[in-house]
Amino acid sequence: MDTLLLVSSIVLPIITIFFLHHFLSQKSTIPGNYGWPLIGESIDYFKKLRSGTNEKFVMQRRKLFGDVFKTSILGEKMAFLCGPEGNKFLFSNENKLVEVWWPSSVESIIKKSNNKSVTAESAKVRQLLPPFLRAHAVKNYISDMDSELRQHLADYWTGRDEVEVCPFVAKYTFALAVKLLLGVHDATELEKLATPFVEAAGGIIAVPINIPGTRFNRGVKASNRIREVIMGIIAQRRKDLADGTATPMQDLLSHMIVEVDKRNQDSGNAPTTDGDMSSDLLGLLIGGYDTINTTVVFIMMTLVDHPDVYQGVLKEQMDIAREKSPGQLLDWDDLRKMKYSWNVACEVLRMCPPTVGAFRVAKTDFTYAGFKIPKGWKLHYLPHYTQKNHEFFPNPEKFDPSRFEGAGPAPYTFVPFGGGARMCPGNEYARAEILVFMYNIITRYNWVRLIPDEKVVIDPLPRPVHGLPIKLIPHETIS
Ligand code: HEM
Repeated sequence: MDTLLLVSSIVLPIITIFFLHHFLSQKSTIPGNYGWPLIGESIDYFKKLRSGTNEKFVMQRRKLFGDVFKTSILGEKMAFLCGPEGNKFLFSNENKLVEVWWPSSVESIIKKSNNKSVTAESAKVRQLLPPFLRAHAVKNYISDMDSELRQHLADYWTGRDEVEVCPFVAKYTFALAVKLLLGVHDATELEKLATPFVEAAGGIIAVPINIPGTRFNRGVKASNRIREVIMGIIAQRRKDLADGTATPMQDLLSHMIVEVDKRNQDSGNAPTTDGDMSSDLLGLLIGGYDTINTTVVFIMMTLVDHPDVYQGVLKEQMDIAREKSPGQLLDWDDLRKMKYSWNVACEVLRMCPPTVGAFRVAKTDFTYAGFKIPKGWKLHYLPHYTQKNHEFFPNPEKFDPSRFEGAGPAPYTFVPFGGGARMCPGNEYARAEILVFMYNIITRYNWVRLIPDEKVVIDPLPRPVHGLPIKLIPHETIS
């Protein structure tokens, strides 16, 4: 009897606890593979990235392991939380369970002084942006965006039969960003920034091997050259602020200098140097440059490949143009009328998201869907996974702007700008620039491809390999 009592009161609970623990720990071990020592599964990740099928990296593993899996890429142990639930979890737990994290390639290109990390500093930079990137600020940029583009078209396209779209778009978006955010109008100064810029941006999404000849090494060297140019611009602006020829709120550069100087005085921490500020501005330009270029170039490719969509956008934009007097620039109200054009742009952003998504780091141990994610683990979301998935977008290979009519896609499935507290702060700026571009091009031209089946490469963002040469067919021109 005693033995029976002993078994039922002590041994049985121990056995139960053992099995429960065994069962729970089985569940809490995230399935997946780390791949090879050091490189992990990076080769497969980059192979799919370069072939424009990064969603397959996630899809293949999700099929094998389920909605949560582990891998090792970019030298880090990483967990993927798949689907809209995963996106929602990451977006709504910013600064609670997770925080933003950037790979070491980003840390090297956007270098900080005193071993400060870009990841740790980025929240401070973000605080400075709203006065210049939120909708109320973007409203004031629209006429500048429009007049700058009209000038570029007059300089490079008017009177020509054949043009290359990619270099034209790149020139325009870069000149505009540098002018609006840094107040740089001087062509020589602009050229000094533009030339190394492409290489610096290319180093961001690269295997971080810093030996001569690698893409990463070229990116690091180019970013050093740009930083020097921006430091010169900062020094000049300090003088202009001191002698009253510049004002504290005239653009992001002035605002940043004034706020950072104030912060440096108030805080006992390592000061933010002019080098740090130039890195921040470089990061901002990188974030806002290729992303818009890619979108605009793919809109032009899509419109030429889908004549019905071209006609829809043409009608909408011509209706707006007819309401304007000759030479009158676009304004915020005009942009609000461009609903179909924006649906077209969104469908391009769905099928061809310009960024690889973003990364987070676990601030603490936490449990997601029954799996334990240890503190320090990195997490990664790819817009491609939900956006090119038939579960959320039926017939995902079909270009169909009507997906964005009415309530539009289900929450957390269309995430080209991310979401939550860390959502891209440049989304309104991007929307305005894309719509201004669509208006100006389509009210002036129709076009045909000069290389009908031009291949698209991902290098590191998607682009047509020959720069999208087109034949321009001008129609009724607006002034
Ligand atoms: C089509 C254009 C664009 C796309 C698709 C895009 C997409 C993104 C994405 C996915 C992120 C990461 C969000 C996250 O961490 O979850 C991001 C961050 C960021 N973007 Fe954009 N972006 C675009 C244009 C711009 C523009 C025009 C600017 C500035 C003028 C900009 C500035 C930034 C900055 C500063 C961050 C980092 C924000 C932070 O760490 O809090 N982006 N963007």
